[in-house]
Amino acid sequence: MKYRQPISFLLILISFSFFLYRESSNEPINTIAVIDSANCWTGASPHQIPVDSSGSLIRYGYLLISNTAAFLGPNGTVSHSTNGMNCQNCHLEAGTKPWGNNYGAVASTYPKVRARSGKLESIEMRVNDCLQRSLNGKPIDSLSKEMLSIVAYIKWLGSEIPKGEKPKGTGIIDLPYLTRAADTIQGRKDYIISCASCHGIDGKGKTALNGIGFLYPPLWGNQSYNDAAGIFRLSRFAGFIKNNMPNPSNYHHTKLSNESAWDIAAYVNSQPRPHKDQSQDWPDISKKPVDCPIGPYTDKRSEKQHKYGPYTLTIK
Ligand code: HEC
Ligand code: HEC
Repeated sequence: MKYRQPISFLLILISFSFFLYRESSNEPINTIAVIDSANCWTGASPHQIPVDSSGSLIRYGYLLISNTAAFLGPNGTVSHSTNGMNCQNCHLEAGTKPWGNNYGAVASTYPKVRARSGKLESIEMRVNDCLQRSLNGKPIDSLSKEMLSIVAYIKWLGSEIPKGEKPKGTGIIDLPYLTRAADTIQGRKDYIISCASCHGIDGKGKTALNGIGFLYPPLWGNQSYNDAAGIFRLSRFAGFIKNNMPNPSNYHHTKLSNESAWDIAAYVNSQPRPHKDQSQDWPDISKKPVDCPIGPYTDKRSEKQHKYGPYTLTIK
């Protein structure tokens, strides 16, 4: 009886000092993302999504990104507003794969002014960009449950990255430019060897066996991304496939030379695809990237040279 009080006092003191230690330590208490052996950001996996009320929105966002067609595709349960592709077809492993066009730096860098629109863009606006271009579809309401969930998932993935930072491994790699124009004839040969077995000699891919989305997504034709999509720029396409295709490959084990990546990009992006009016894009044309395939430009290079290169050769 006599010792009870001092003992409980001691216990309180110990727990308080532990609390102070946790508060002062710089170790993140709940780390979700991983930095791999080459220092590249790798996103958290879906089974780390919290099992509380905040988690249900994030989890629905994950489902929308990994299985977009089931909700928004031609036979979607929510709407019929996209071409049947999934976000994950291009933002690999639900936007978590290093150099797999992941979402690592979205929460830390948005809102930001983008030269393509000339506007301050929120994450919602950027998502609607991909819906209208990469999925050749319609935008969704920024207050809809679907948009709130997609944004919640993207923010959760990037929640540990300090504002303004873009860690190594996020997005798509910038490959060095070739000193020649990318060659569609060589690209077709390489495509037949490395890509046609899945994406088809006709580029149409293969529909999934359950009819929802694709087993192998299309690379051109009616169901593919339109000519206003980011991946229609050769540098984005070449950088994406260099580290990720033929499937499965990753930046530790690439299967394409840089030259082949550019040539295949040229061949695929020379094939027919849906057109989107983009006359309002790049209001300040001096900010247009050099590989933007549709004019006008501030220099005298032709659309063809902007599309296929060489980018290093300047014609005034
Ligand atoms: C056909 C391929 C493709 C599909 C499908 C696609 N995207 Fe994208 N997305 C891209 C490319 C390419 C970029 C630009 C990457 C760059 O500029 O380096 C991009 C960029 C983004 C960004 C900005 C990334 C950043 O770091 O600035 C967000 C957010 C995004 N997409 C969301 C989505 C969502 C959500 C979906 C599905 C509704 C989707 N995308 C479907 C190809 C695609
Ligand atoms: C073994 C099958 C396979 C091969 C071979 C392959 N891919 Fe893919 N590719 C896929 C799959 C599957 C996806 C979708 C990935 C996902 O949803 O996780 C994909 C996605 C893509 C995408 C983004 C989605 C789209 O359709 O726009 C591009 C671009 C692409 N592949 C290009 C290529 C190129 C170029 C080659 C040849 C260098 C190639 N792929 C070889 C299976 C393959």
